[in-house]
Amino acid sequence: MCGIVGYVGSEQAGPILLDGLSKLEYRGYDSAGIAVRNDETGEFQIVKAKGRLHELYIKTDGGRTTKGTCGIGHTRWATHGEATEINAHPHYSDDKNVVGVHNGIIENYQELKEKLTRKGYSFYSETDTEVVIKLIDYYYKKYLGTPVDAINHTLVRIRGAYSLAVMFKEYPGEIYVARKDAPLVVGRADGASLCGSDVSPMLKFTRTVYYIDDLQLGKLTKDGVTFYNLDGDEIEIEPKTVNWDAEAVEKCGFEHFMMKEIHEQPKAITETLNAYIKDGVFDLSAAGIEDDKLKTYQRIYIVACGSAYHVGVAAKYVFEKMAHVPVEIDIASEFRYRDPILMKDSLFVVISQSGETADSLAALRLVKEKNIDTLAVVNVTGSSIAREADYVMYTYAGPEIAVATTKAYSCQLINMYLLSMAFARAKGLTSADELDKLIKALYALPGQINEIIGDKERIQWFASQFSTSQDIFFIGRGIDYAIGLEGSLKTKEISYIHSEAYAAGELKHGTISLIDKGTLVISVATQDALYEKTVSNIVEVKSRGAYLMGITNSGNYNIENTVDFVVYVPRTEQYFTTSLAIVPLQLLAYYISLARGLDVDKPRNLAKSVTVE
Ligand code: G6P
Repeated sequence: MCGIVGYVGSEQAGPILLDGLSKLEYRGYDSAGIAVRNDETGEFQIVKAKGRLHELYIKTDGGRTTKGTCGIGHTRWATHGEATEINAHPHYSDDKNVVGVHNGIIENYQELKEKLTRKGYSFYSETDTEVVIKLIDYYYKKYLGTPVDAINHTLVRIRGAYSLAVMFKEYPGEIYVARKDAPLVVGRADGASLCGSDVSPMLKFTRTVYYIDDLQLGKLTKDGVTFYNLDGDEIEIEPKTVNWDAEAVEKCGFEHFMMKEIHEQPKAITETLNAYIKDGVFDLSAAGIEDDKLKTYQRIYIVACGSAYHVGVAAKYVFEKMAHVPVEIDIASEFRYRDPILMKDSLFVVISQSGETADSLAALRLVKEKNIDTLAVVNVTGSSIAREADYVMYTYAGPEIAVATTKAYSCQLINMYLLSMAFARAKGLTSADELDKLIKALYALPGQINEIIGDKERIQWFASQFSTSQDIFFIGRGIDYAIGLEGSLKTKEISYIHSEAYAAGELKHGTISLIDKGTLVISVATQDALYEKTVSNIVEVKSRGAYLMGITNSGNYNIENTVDFVVYVPRTEQYFTTSLAIVPLQLLAYYISLARGLDVDKPRNLAKSVTVE
């Protein structure tokens, strides 16, 4: 959702802000804007545009029409008020003394707006952000204090989730940032300081970053960064080094980030495996998890959103079969409001690429209050979920830019396999030989994924035949059902074709009535034990006129008797088939979207990081 950037240094801020915003486009937005303080006149130049960043780029000649070395920028994903130029950020106080951008939602903005109206303020937009900026201005004038005092007074009055970057006319060369439950990172480079909703806008300048905590405040100047607590006292925050490089946020010759990220999966999986497997032995101590501790857990709760939830669905099958641990899985937005009954001797696992998804974070907090151990599977270092969970098992996917996740999903699966193997080992359910076999199978996955990607033209051809479909159904049993859920989500999010995934055995209970002549049904059948059962379901839809695409393991040639188009994936251990069978489905969704001429990386209405509930 909304993206924030800020730069103060010796270079012209405008082009840097525009470039930074382009790195945050993936978060989802519908308007954008920048504010640069003119070094000579002290006036703020605020330029906003509705629509794509390109509009702002044209309007500002790539940021060059603004003059000054200190500025902030924003991509807005509309919540309060439509996506218009007026509602776009930055917002400013009546005298343009305070200018700021905001990500998140201020829950009590109406009440604050009324208070400010009584004090003589007027409002030009429908946003909650304008209210916050004017509240800062109000306290700044009321107490005649510093920007830190004014922002701190504001922080205690506003409720909700937010990150803010603010400039004051009377404080040239300074940017102030603060956050609560929304991401904001501060970066320090040689002769410049930066801020961003994540590190990607600052990778060209620095890898030294500071993760500020809730209700902490930062002051950025050309010469350094200073942090404060809510009392206005200076505090120390340890700098961290980010190991992502600037190339990771560029397309590097690919037409889209999604295709680049599909190709990066083998490397991302290898790096994730290498983090937990040393010299052929795997141990999760990097995540602080000991086998002795795992032995004590009687059940696992897995909670997540979107694709991360689908990882959980696949993992449930793996945990129950391999480690004999009961698993309860839920969508975070449901879990948090259903008063879940949680048993003490359990492990709660939250899965999240961004580590900032509002519902997943809220679910984690709810569980922590009940004193249940929590483990986060997260991709973004220093994110809120990573910081708040008891244990963190990072995925090493690197930055993921395309809204439709591919490589982060694949790495999340790896972490869940490893966790399940650790459970099985701790409970004495698996021999050393069996574990060796599984580790070898895990290390074979990257090469096998490359094989599947090597055949992508065939999938492209198939996608071109079905790019005008009205509906696409996915069916499968067990793990294959979990694969179908993710395949279906990939398809609908970037191709805008209606799609559903069904447990194959459930078809007869209603859905089969939707199958008509030529309806595309994609059946996933990678589980040997369920293969014949799934084939029976395929036959049922086939005889109702469906056009069948099948995904199965190499060697299951008799599927050709039933389906019209087959994609064979290399054989792996039964637990790990999701990692292979998902790849043709990622490619299929990509090529359908491409054939329909859609914006593959930035599908309409979607945001990569959903920081509001
Ligand atoms: C959004 C993204 C999905 C993602 C989900 C959960 O909907 O578009 O790709 O799976 O959020 O995000 P998280 O960062 O928690 O994994």
